[in-house]
This record gives sequence, C-alpha cells and structure tokens, in this order.
Amino acid sequence: MHFLLFGFLILPAIATANTDACYGSNVILAPSADHRPVPWGTPSIHFSLNGIPTTCCDSIEEIRTALDDIDDEILGLLNRRAAYVREATRFKSTRESVNVPSRNEAVLKRAEQQAVDIGVPVTIVRATIGAILNSSVPFEQCIVSNLGVLIRFEADSPV
Ligand SMILES: *[C@@H]1O[C@H](CO)[C@@H](O)[C@H](O)[C@H]1NC(C)=O
Repeated sequence: MHFLLFGFLILPAIATANTDACYGSNVILAPSADHRPVPWGTPSIHFSLNGIPTTCCDSIEEIRTALDDIDDEILGLLNRRAAYVREATRFKSTRESVNVPSRNEAVLKRAEQQAVDIGVPVTIVRATIGAILNSSVPFEQCIVSNLGVLIRFEADSPV
C-alpha cells in the first residue's frame, strides 16, 4: 500500500498550537491532560489514494497498518544505505580509518536542519539518524576486518 501524501502537515489549528513544542530537539511536556475521551480531534492525515482525496485515521489498527508499511520502506532504505556503507570500505585501508566523527557530525547536523525545514520532529531525526550513523561504524569495521581475514586466508591457501 503506497500513498502519495500531501497536506501531511495540515493539522487543525488548535492541535498545531498545542503540539508545536513536540517538534524541536528538546520536547517540552505540558501539564498532564490524561484520561481525555478518545478519539479526540479530527483525523489529520490527508493523502491521495488512486487520485481520490482520502483522510486517515478512524482506528488505531489503520494507523498500525500504515506504520508497518512505512517501516517496510525504511527497511528498504536501510538496505540501500548499508550497501553504500559497505562500498565505502573499498576506500578505507584499515579498521581504524572507518570511523570519521567529523563526517558523522556533519551528516547529523544536515539532517537536523532538514528536519526543521521540512517539519519532521527533530527529536526523532536526531535519535534515528544518530543511531544509523553509530551502528554503521561497527558494521563497516566488521566488513573491513573480515575482508582482511578473507584476503589473508586466500593468500595462505595452498593452491
Ligand atoms: C552516537 O555516538 C556518539 C559518540 O559516541 C554519542 O555521543 C551519541 O549520543 C550517539 N547517538 C545515538 C543516537 O546513539
């Protein structure tokens, strides 16, 4: 299920005013207003399904289905990204040269700025892009070190 999202950020004015504080890098908690009747407000996701303007969501199940679809897309993107991370090892001669903190810092800064520009919650972008960068280092080091084993193994193998 792939939707063309549009007007994704057109939230009801009241919801926007109350929830802006959740889009920064440090989320600000307001006094608890728990135990409100649900669902509150009106559906806020607007997209085009086969050219027909559609609104979501009427149930938590609908939301979970959409989240599962999005997670599948993220996994596909992570697969592509990991392939390029692996490719980067071709340009690195030692395991120690894999991690380039200044590059990671620049990638994170750029993502945070884009998050602000696009309106993606910065707190989510910082945590996820940071985790992607941090977890890519041991992956890349693993490729480099096992490649070393493979090359030595091939060199040592009797013909
Ligand atoms: C990534 O690693 C850096 C350096 O160790 C650390 O400061 C940062 O908190 C980590 N980020 C995440 C999201 O784990």
